Amino acid sequence: MSDACALELRGLRKRFGRTEIIRGVDLAVRPGERVAVIGPNGAGKSTLFNLISGRFGASEGEILLHGQRIDGLAPHQINRLGLARSFQVSNLFNRLSVFENLRCAVLWSLGYKYAFWRLLAGAHDANERAEQLMDRLALQGRRDVLAMNLSYAEQRALEIGITIAGGAGVILLDEPTAGMSRSETARFVALIREVTVGRTLLTVEHDMGVVFGLADRIAVLVYGEVIAFDVPERVRADARVQEAYLGSVLVDAAHAAPEGR
Ligand SMILES: Nc1ncnc2c1ncn2[C@@H]1O[C@H](COP(=O)(O)OP(=O)(O)OP(=O)(O)O)[C@@H](O)[C@H]1O
Ligand SMILES: [Mg+2]
Repeated sequence: MSDACALELRGLRKRFGRTEIIRGVDLAVRPGERVAVIGPNGAGKSTLFNLISGRFGASEGEILLHGQRIDGLAPHQINRLGLARSFQVSNLFNRLSVFENLRCAVLWSLGYKYAFWRLLAGAHDANERAEQLMDRLALQGRRDVLAMNLSYAEQRALEIGITIAGGAGVILLDEPTAGMSRSETARFVALIREVTVGRTLLTVEHDMGVVFGLADRIAVLVYGEVIAFDVPERVRADARVQEAYLGSVLVDAAHAAPEGR
């Protein structure tokens, strides 16, 4: 089974002191799949991403990337093996332009693969790759604008670009559409869809419109446990999910957006 998985979690647990936040998570994500992780505030979604990306060490359990154990590795080692994540807190260089931010991200990823003397030879490739990324992000018109002067949605788009710049096959996004207007969100989901073609995506998301529009499967995390992991229609119809989480969210969503999505 693990050979076929892009990412697999086995019996994953995380304790902070005596409090167990992740309480035995098993999850097998197929290559090319888009998985949304949903659940109430404090359920442990960001903690789960911090475990996968190596920011936190697991208390128990295994994490496999393309069948290879990555638990215990440092974040940059995991990144080199093809897993990249975005942060809720911005990782942009505010005083660099859009192009320079992307170029830095590309060079950083090359820097680990090439000896220094080859970096110069790689610089031309990096420029080209940065230009291509700008196209895909629809930021060509903003090429020389400093990151700090971009709109909020443009900054989030640039962050996605930086996340994918190294060519990672597995992408983790933690609440990528948080704080966006509805039209920005719609455009952004289309962008995420486009730039993750051929990659595996795990995204934490509170917006149910985004979840149901983007995800091939949904993992529902409640108090550190995955209570459902299935295709959207089945998760939506799951009585346990309705009770634990989705019922209240769908009711809230209906109040917040009476005209529907
Ligand atoms: N470094 C830490 N030390 C101690 N407790 C932590 C740490 N990080 C997270 N927690 C606790 O773990 C629980 C889960 O937090 P986490 O941020 O993973 O939730 P979440 O599902 O991402 O929530 P949200 O939807 O609000 O982003 C919370 O009770 C939080 O206080
Ligand atoms: Mg979180």
